[in-house]
Amino acid sequence: MPLEKSSYLSDTWKDGLFKNKVVFCTGGAGTICSAQVRALVHLGANACIVGRNVEKTEKAARDIATARAGAKVLGIGAVDVRSLESLQGAVERCVSELGAIDYVIAGAAGNFLASINQISVNAFKSVMEIDVQGSYNTLKATIPHLIESAQKHRVDSTSLKPSPTGTGGRIIFVSATLHYTGTPFQAHVSVAKAGIDALSNSVALEFGPLGVTSNVIAPGPIASTEGLDRLLPSDKLDKIKRSQPLGRFGSVRDIADATVYLFADTGSYVSGQILVVDGASWRISSAGIGSSDYPDFLLSGDTFENVKGKKKAKL
Ligand code: COA
Repeated sequence: MPLEKSSYLSDTWKDGLFKNKVVFCTGGAGTICSAQVRALVHLGANACIVGRNVEKTEKAARDIATARAGAKVLGIGAVDVRSLESLQGAVERCVSELGAIDYVIAGAAGNFLASINQISVNAFKSVMEIDVQGSYNTLKATIPHLIESAQKHRVDSTSLKPSPTGTGGRIIFVSATLHYTGTPFQAHVSVAKAGIDALSNSVALEFGPLGVTSNVIAPGPIASTEGLDRLLPSDKLDKIKRSQPLGRFGSVRDIADATVYLFADTGSYVSGQILVVDGASWRISSAGIGSSDYPDFLLSGDTFENVKGKKKAKL
């Protein structure tokens, strides 16, 4: 479905910024990542999004392609980031059909609210494998193409001349702010996201000499997203929103604009950084996640109502 541009991209950026460029994105059918990709496609890029659910991924790709006439957006389903082979297959198809990979967004993630007492060893492992191993696999599968693109599109911002072919060889890992203070009911994701932050820093150091930049975007509470549905009880949303430093949740456009900033010329000397896009939310104790009735709720051993991803009782 075509969306109003203002819902996913601000007017700051010039059309054609990412002409002839290709972005590869995991978790690309999700609310945040699809807005990031839609923004890049609007500005000229072609894209390949991958995900586990075939129908959802293909539909999202068709949807994103409406952002620009003539855009090519591949939606490859049945790709689980926990499998390097399945990612490598998608990367090969992306490069053979679209010609290159200039930008990568590692966005696939798993989340649900549960205390350490409530989640099994296997549940912890699942989140670690999707988030940390999945991000690592995404890097491994795409890095040769990022290096190639970085070599072709080196930007020397000291030369004062605009780079004729634009930028390339850039990766963004989508993380979170949960681990800055510690967040109850989010030990599994906090550990995973801390790992992703560390991975990005190493990528910046090891591949910087080859022209690749690596950064993290850490979104805060973003309105109308799967993450918000999973982390904040629907009956408490209004109250939590009012308590945010800017009096609102973020929008997917806030994250998409940050993505454009990092991938365009503007981000040429930015690497090994974490760009927190949260309206200062994490500074007020984890945005309200699991904290409303802390510690009484934790001690009660109850599970959350009115959140998506709640574990169903085994009969
Ligand atoms: N609370 C506690 N444990 C949970 C849970 C919950 N809400 N949801 C799932 N689990 C446990 C399962 O019981 C299982 O553990 P077990 O084998 O000991 O019973 C384990 O997690 C794996 O679940 P399963 O459904 O088999 O794994 P999966 O790989 O298909 O799913 C998840 C991965 C669990 C992360 C699932 O929530 C998911 O697919 N999420 C994708 C979407 C998403 O979370 N997006 C986040 C955007 S912020």
